[in-house]
Amino acid sequence: MFGRLNSPEQVFSYKLGAALTMERDTLEMLGDLEDAAQRPELKQLLREHAAETRVQIETIEQCFALLGEEVDDSPCPVTKALAAEAKATLKKTDDSLVDAVILAGALETEYHEQAVYETLAIHARARGAERVAVLLESNLHVEQGAGARVKALSQQIATTGVATTPEDGGMGAAAKAGLAAGVAATVGAAAAAASKVAENKGKEQAREAAEESLRTQPATTSTTATTTSTATSSTTGGLVEGEELNDDALQDRTAHSDARPAVDEERPAAGI
Ligand SMILES: [Fe+2]
Repeated sequence: MFGRLNSPEQVFSYKLGAALTMERDTLEMLGDLEDAAQRPELKQLLREHAAETRVQIETIEQCFALLGEEVDDSPCPVTKALAAEAKATLKKTDDSLVDAVILAGALETEYHEQAVYETLAIHARARGAERVAVLLESNLHVEQGAGARVKALSQQIATTGVATTPEDGGMGAAAKAGLAAGVAATVGAAAAAASKVAENKGKEQAREAAEESLRTQPATTSTTATTTSTATSSTTGGLVEGEELNDDALQDRTAHSDARPAVDEERPAAGI
């Protein structure tokens, strides 16, 4: 733990330690959110990202090793605050609506994490620590992937119905897709009716026709469920058990990770 930060390297290491604390806190938060989540696809998403987060923690520890420094665990109040806010909101939220709260907290966390890794990678590369930069970028890509999955599910829930029913957890994907399709068909029919009248009778009549169409459509529950998420874990980084931290291991990890950017072969390899 640092006292005063008197050099760019100390600032970097301090922020790297804060990233480690961030991931450890996030891992704990993901477990809590998974317990509270209602939809199976959301539970799965959170579970998958928890596995990714464990690897990210190992990756940060490897960055410290490459820098020849002891692992630091600087404070990261941001993640703790996000977790506290999510928990407080969940506490006062009806069970049927908690998924939207969880997804909001998850997306806020993912964007913060992305900013952290972007900054660290910039400074690692600038100081010539190319391998550290590549590892940090691998963590960045994991966060971007997780953020995209969270955003997609959030959009899906927002458009097909935020609330869940008590049976929702056991509802099959086909039934969920059917409900979602029912909503789409109803909205589509209303839009088609409005368009047809608009051609012949002007905008005012179109509005009236659309309203009439909506009134005559079969009622559709507002508690529609979602289709199953196809999120795929993109776990990267981290040494497998028994693997030693050396240049070969690092090169192998870098070469085989499709979540990482290609390393510029032209660039002279830095010492770290
Ligand atoms: Fe994350």
